[in-house]
Amino acid sequence: MEYYNPVKVLIKQGGVMDIGTILQDTFSETKSVLLVIGKKSFEKSKYYSIIHEKLAEYNVFVYRVNNSNPSIDEIYDGYNIIKKFKFEVIIAIGGGSVLDTAKIFSITRNVDLLSRDEFDKYILEGKYKENRKRYKLIAIPTTVGTGSEVTPFAVVWDKNNKKKYSVDDISLYPDIALLDVNLIMSLPKAQVVITALDALSHGVEGYWAKRGNDISRIYSLISIELIIKNLELAIKNPEDVRYKEKLLIASMFAGKSISKSRTTLGHAISYILTMKYDIPHGLAVGIILPHVYELNYHHIEEIEKLKTVLGNMDSSELKIWIKDICDLCKIETNLDYYGFKVDDIDEICKNANVIGRSDNNPIKITNDETKNIIYKIK
Ligand SMILES: [Fe+2]
Repeated sequence: MEYYNPVKVLIKQGGVMDIGTILQDTFSETKSVLLVIGKKSFEKSKYYSIIHEKLAEYNVFVYRVNNSNPSIDEIYDGYNIIKKFKFEVIIAIGGGSVLDTAKIFSITRNVDLLSRDEFDKYILEGKYKENRKRYKLIAIPTTVGTGSEVTPFAVVWDKNNKKKYSVDDISLYPDIALLDVNLIMSLPKAQVVITALDALSHGVEGYWAKRGNDISRIYSLISIELIIKNLELAIKNPEDVRYKEKLLIASMFAGKSISKSRTTLGHAISYILTMKYDIPHGLAVGIILPHVYELNYHHIEEIEKLKTVLGNMDSSELKIWIKDICDLCKIETNLDYYGFKVDDIDEICKNANVIGRSDNNPIKITNDETKNIIYKIK
């Protein structure tokens, strides 16, 4: 059995205040830092100025990721901006798209990619694997969903060709994951739910994934239990740090699970829905999850352990649980609301990235079964 995850995890409320010390202690030669952040709301938060204060001794360049599902075009444009700066360490603060963009930047050290074609070859065709020089990366999540702070992959979208790539290699592991619950206290409750559903899907899919093992499955069980016990409490008690911190930790553990196991059918079907209807990733995987649970149910090893941490819910009960949590935050859970048309069904099934991930699912799924899931969530 094998499990490898080199990310140093720091969990501390207010930990972002220590960012200067962390840099000094861990990367003492550093003089310049690239700060990768998300949309403008973070710049307005007090943490943005706190971070600048704490990094006063360093040259700091800021790069903003403006899109929630960054495309290869946007990352290439970003690369052309950041390559003009000289820095040693990247600090990424944000959701999955920010962390994933920073991971791609981290593998562009000591190369000069002069065209889009060269960039595509380097990133998407894996030439970066020949270059073990990388920027150090500190990943600080501001959502409770992706677990990207502890995984070795980054999702990159190709919006023109309606494709999604997973750049996947050990060189994408961040060096440090800093979990500071203060950064998620102002996250809108709908965002808490949507991103927690992503983490729940990582936990559950990671549990039944063929590539998982006894070590990664333990991380799955911990993460699922934390989410099931704390999500509703976190929504109903938004000021209470305890519940949100549990979700943040759950998301990290689910990330540790899929860093070994990878994801399965739920994720495979979800990407085209996000691409086509702009359904947030966490919501797409969350509404599909009970249906894949139903299909896989009799083929999951040690299902009793999974059921126990799921509060003994079967697939229909899990579906109701997810619907109720979404209703609490007025999140629509039907595809129709997002513009689904029955005429789209063949295109969705064709583009559902089922092939690669079906090998990782406990059972194979047919085109008709995929269709069936789409009809059930429409
Ligand atoms: Fe996900």
